[in-house]
Amino acid sequence: MIELVGLNKTFHTAAGEVAALKDVSLKVDKGDIYGVVGFSGAGKSTLIRCVNLLEKPDSGSVKIDGREITAYGEKQLAKEREGIGMIFQHFNLLRNKTVFENVAFPLRYARKNRKEIEKRVGELLELVDLSDKTSAYPSQLSGGQKQRVAIARALAMDPKILLSDEATSALDPQTTESILQLLKKLNEQLGLTILLITHEMDVVRRVCNKVAVMEKGSIVESGDTFRLFTQPQSDITRRFVDSLFRSEAVGEVLYEPDGAPRFQQGRLFHLLFVGDRATDPHIARAIRDYRTDISIIFGNIEMVQGKPIGSLYVLIDGQEADIDGAIEYFRREGIRATEIDTRGGDDL
Ligand SMILES: Nc1ncnc2c1ncn2[C@@H]1O[C@H](COP(=O)(O)OP(=O)(O)OP(=O)(O)O)[C@@H](O)[C@H]1O
Ligand SMILES: [Mg+2]
Repeated sequence: MIELVGLNKTFHTAAGEVAALKDVSLKVDKGDIYGVVGFSGAGKSTLIRCVNLLEKPDSGSVKIDGREITAYGEKQLAKEREGIGMIFQHFNLLRNKTVFENVAFPLRYARKNRKEIEKRVGELLELVDLSDKTSAYPSQLSGGQKQRVAIARALAMDPKILLSDEATSALDPQTTESILQLLKKLNEQLGLTILLITHEMDVVRRVCNKVAVMEKGSIVESGDTFRLFTQPQSDITRRFVDSLFRSEAVGEVLYEPDGAPRFQQGRLFHLLFVGDRATDPHIARAIRDYRTDISIIFGNIEMVQGKPIGSLYVLIDGQEADIDGAIEYFRREGIRATEIDTRGGDDL
């Protein structure tokens, strides 16, 4: 569906050269909701803009359904772009046009007649549940409603691909959830393939079947979402995954309000349990077989692609060798155990 091979892009700025993309390859299959995560400046927007060639890569190949589009002229490219919708963090609506006119914009540009436009805009507003806002102006809408208008506009020409650059980043959690549900519905009902940039693993967890992690212009890891959550290969992926399970409560349990530690002894670990492993009595065995004391500080379960991942913060006390033995035992059992340096002031 979308195949990017060996993309490079360097920006030449007054401050010097910025390698925004370094040999980036990515394959998105039909029907995927493919997430791209990474910190600010990683190259996510540059990457997604290369898909419809809003950004021209210095080298590399961009194929849509097998068509190499980097060689296309403007006219062919305009046609190709009709098949690729795009939405943004700040919606990019026309402020002095009504909802109807915003959604009609691409249809007018494509010189559809009045009847066709009215019919299509009506369908689209129904699809995004905004039929009652046809003649409202963007300033009269909530953030979530504005994004729905933007989605309707992006779908006007019936694209097969939707590019989403941080489309939920300006929205509160509840509105984010409703927009994600809408994207999922469009994916399932229209067979829309979605490439979605986000910095929130919670968004990835909810809707993406595949995900790529970017760092400094490169893709460091990519593949099945559940596998990436449970078997992260790189430090940066681990950091993103852990962000999903991190909780302020852990800090509050471990430290007094003035920052003094409540516990003088023991080492803090974060344990991640996957699938069947979650129900075995591992903690009981580690206490018994390794003569350790284990206090549970904080626990939760997150569903990733409909499968559970359990997270436990535990304080383990005992002889050093016994603590190490217990941790090795956890790891042998397929539990991911990461030590957290409580004295070093690691952010929890
Ligand atoms: N038009 C441009 N001119 C010069 N430098 C650019 C341009 N666009 C992007 N860059 C630089 O390329 C790098 C990647 O930028 P990009 O916008 O792709 O990052 P991003 O991952 O989308 O970040 P964010 O999460 O902040 O949106 C950054 O260092 C950025 O400053
Ligand atoms: Mg960006």
